[in-house]
Amino acid sequence: MTETIVEMRHITKRFPGIIANDDINLSICKGEIFALLGENGAGKSTLMSMLFGLYEPDQGEFLVRGQQVKIDSPNQAVALDIGMVHQHFQLVSNFTVTENIIMGVETSKRRLGIFPTVDLKNSEKKVAALSEQYGLEVDPRAVIEDLQISERQRVEILKMLYRNAEILIFDEPTAVLTPQEIQFLLQIIRNLRDNGKTVILITHKLDEIKQVADRCAILNRGRLIAVRDVSQTSTQEMARLMVGHDIAFTLDKKPAQFGEEILRVDSLTVENEEKYEAIRQVSFSVHRGEIYALAGVAGNGQVELADAISGLLPVKSGHIYLKQTDITQESVRARNLRGLSYIPEDRQSVGLILDFTLQDNLVLKRYFQPGFRKGQRIKLERWQSYARRLSQVYDIRSANGIQTVVRSMSGGNQQKAIIAREIDQDSDLQIYVQPTRGLDIGAITSIREKLIQERDHGKAILLISLELDEIMACADTIGVLYHGSLQTEARAGELDMETVGAYMMGAQHE
Ligand SMILES: Nc1ncnc2c1ncn2[C@@H]1O[C@H](COP(=O)(O)OP(=O)(O)O)[C@@H](O)[C@H]1O
Ligand SMILES: [Mg+2]
Repeated sequence: MTETIVEMRHITKRFPGIIANDDINLSICKGEIFALLGENGAGKSTLMSMLFGLYEPDQGEFLVRGQQVKIDSPNQAVALDIGMVHQHFQLVSNFTVTENIIMGVETSKRRLGIFPTVDLKNSEKKVAALSEQYGLEVDPRAVIEDLQISERQRVEILKMLYRNAEILIFDEPTAVLTPQEIQFLLQIIRNLRDNGKTVILITHKLDEIKQVADRCAILNRGRLIAVRDVSQTSTQEMARLMVGHDIAFTLDKKPAQFGEEILRVDSLTVENEEKYEAIRQVSFSVHRGEIYALAGVAGNGQVELADAISGLLPVKSGHIYLKQTDITQESVRARNLRGLSYIPEDRQSVGLILDFTLQDNLVLKRYFQPGFRKGQRIKLERWQSYARRLSQVYDIRSANGIQTVVRSMSGGNQQKAIIAREIDQDSDLQIYVQPTRGLDIGAITSIREKLIQERDHGKAILLISLELDEIMACADTIGVLYHGSLQTEARAGELDMETVGAYMMGAQHE
């Protein structure tokens, strides 16, 4: 009964300095949910971009419904009934839902004159019918910029369906969604399959694969490692195949050895850019050898707190002490030099300069120091050797070594670069905001292990995370932020996950 709809034979794609896909042979069956699993940079998006006509393979061929095809443009892919939802949506934000969906495939009706006009009414009807059929709720007349991310994603899906796509590719569709929205999307994906569509789902979240996929292929560094029936494999096995070695789901962590106080925040009140008090009267301290984890739902003041401590946002009232010195009014660089490192939430706009090379990003906090320059001149060899060493120690992978432009690197490797740069400053205080967001399981584990290792080296760690499991796995002390106030604070062993969750929802007021 299983009929092959897409076949890949010896697909190979090289980019300068890297083989993104290395001799991939794969068959996808009609009507299945086929997951493509692999760490950041494994080659998943590249492979699917070729099937969608965005790149041409250097070698190999695609067969669709048994026919050898040359897919040299997305239009060609659409003609073969292939659709793709990209990681970054491709919608025109001041157009309506329907306008976006029909763009390029409008049906027109002739009025009296010679100019055809777009038959919007009819298209709206068709869109509404598709929404209904697949459970893709969205107002066909809404303007894109007024829609939430999850709604925009539905528009992208409708766009494919409107073009009669039979083979639907999703590139990490859940990375931008909340847990509830994820469940919703997974149900939509099931609906698609149940209506006879073939779905190719790129993800690195093993539990999602377990929930919806029929089969999965695992890629590692451009090579196809294995194909498995999902019902016949375990999350453990998938994880092992993905990273190439066994990984520990639980962290090996000794009890904390609390030392002297490194950071003290005293009755801190911080306004955000809209002059709203995002942080109110917050007090806590972090010691050497301690991971202080702040839990909270997004938007409860976490980012403002971290920005205020690191000096990016001014303080309205209260004080910040670093090793007993009041740093409340100090500049960002002065705080850095005193021993504060910051791994910000927004790694692309705050953490890195995307158009600079890896080397230049790695020396960003060092280039002005003696040893890195001679008079007004920079010491290029020193920059290079330093950047090379960090890349090696922190396993930062990139296409052209330290000369790679950071923008082209995968998210996991960008994050590793920031962490390398910040940790290498040997700061007593390290602030991490969402350090593992969007990363795959291998990178997540290695970053969490790094955090604990730094703690064991006597650093004070402030970890701010939206992931409750991250908080529970790493924390020595847990604080919960809700509406800008600290709701509770306790040693990790004294709070279970449900209780923390309840505080995060503001359920427990004292
Ligand atoms: N346009 C490009 N130019 C150069 N290198 C690229 C390009 N696109 C991807 N790469 C590289 O190819 C490898 C595979 O990338 P990608 O397919 O995006 O991985 P994944 O989607 O699995 O995270 C990575 O090392 C990436 O840096
Ligand atoms: Mg990708």
